[in-house]
Amino acid sequence: MKIAIGSDHVGFELKPIIVEYLKELGHEVEDFGPFSTERTDYPVYGQQVAQSVISEQNDLGILICGTGVGISIAANKIKGIRAVVCSEPYSAKLSREHNNTNVLAFGSRVVGAELAKMIVKEWLDASFEGGRHEKRIKMLNALEKSND
Ligand code: RB5
Repeated sequence: MKIAIGSDHVGFELKPIIVEYLKELGHEVEDFGPFSTERTDYPVYGQQVAQSVISEQNDLGILICGTGVGISIAANKIKGIRAVVCSEPYSAKLSREHNNTNVLAFGSRVVGAELAKMIVKEWLDASFEGGRHEKRIKMLNALEKSND
């Protein structure tokens, strides 16, 4: 798969570890930065990664900030994005199977590199189950439309 990745300055050190891991798993990775530890703002990278998923330039997105919270909120502001912030693999897996999430976020101040890899693996290995969950995704889309 083609995977977009981005972080803020707090997620910066964990990002290359995840990039390498994604490549080891056989994925193509587009890194949206940042490329230094200079203080930056998570909405910038949340938006860029989310837009690359919506435009189908990439299949899925991964975001890292201190907690994963700010950057996932940013991504969720982009229409069509269902971003989840996870600190354990179970929710990551279920978020794909039930909620068809297209962006995964986590916090470099919350999870270590090995747990982050486990979260990424479970998320990527899972796939949307459809069925009864399809109706709920449609309901989410309708909610999003109601804000137009
Ligand atoms: C940056 O200080 C911090 O707020 C950010 O990395 C993230 O945790 C926000 O949700």
